[in-house]
Amino acid sequence: ISFQKNKKNLTATRSTEEKQTLLQQIVLQIDEPSLQRQIQMISLTKEDLFISYKLKPYIEEKIDEIVNAFYASFESEQALITIINTYSSVDKLKTTLSKHFIKLFNGQFTQEDVARIRRIAHIHVKIGLEAKWYMAAFQPLLSKIIEAIEPHFQTKHELLNAIQSCTKLFSLEQQIVLE
Ligand code: HEM
Repeated sequence: ISFQKNKKNLTATRSTEEKQTLLQQIVLQIDEPSLQRQIQMISLTKEDLFISYKLKPYIEEKIDEIVNAFYASFESEQALITIINTYSSVDKLKTTLSKHFIKLFNGQFTQEDVARIRRIAHIHVKIGLEAKWYMAAFQPLLSKIIEAIEPHFQTKHELLNAIQSCTKLFSLEQQIVLE
């Protein structure tokens, strides 16, 4: 995949040393040809990783609310609550989910992340969680994220870009989960 165009876009938006330092932290390194094509198909670029990295403080600030909304969303699904209480507890999972989630906004997406997401997905297969519930659970997370970042944008254009970047990251994670 060529990131030339995106590099240019990124450097065009800022011009300081600070920006160079920031850019060095942005890494999109995927070796698997199929995943590379999927990334191309959803137009996930370093620009998106850069944008998501800038969102990280807003996500961190609201992480408790985000994660609470996630668990509240399946409170009425007794089967899911039973799975959680059999294998873990909501309190424990809130901590692991927060960590996992904040990592998604690290400005990096590498084979390491792919391996981590596959490992987490596998854990859910082992506990018998059906894929439809796993997928459904992403929506309250995304909704809460959009709510969390919205107040930080002055223009519709910038907000739209930020939401696009978040949905692309979620899409990629979902694609890996469903493999
Ligand atoms: C474990 C993320 C959906 C139940 C985990 C872990 C993460 C995670 C990061 C910790 C894995 C580890 O030990 O390293 C997610 C994400 C989801 C999702 C991103 C969807 C967006 C669900 C749903 C349930 C669930 C819907 C409902 C039953 C569990 C349970 C564990 C777990 C019971 C603990 C398994 C064990 O320790 O044996 N999840 N999860 N997850 N998740 Fe989820």
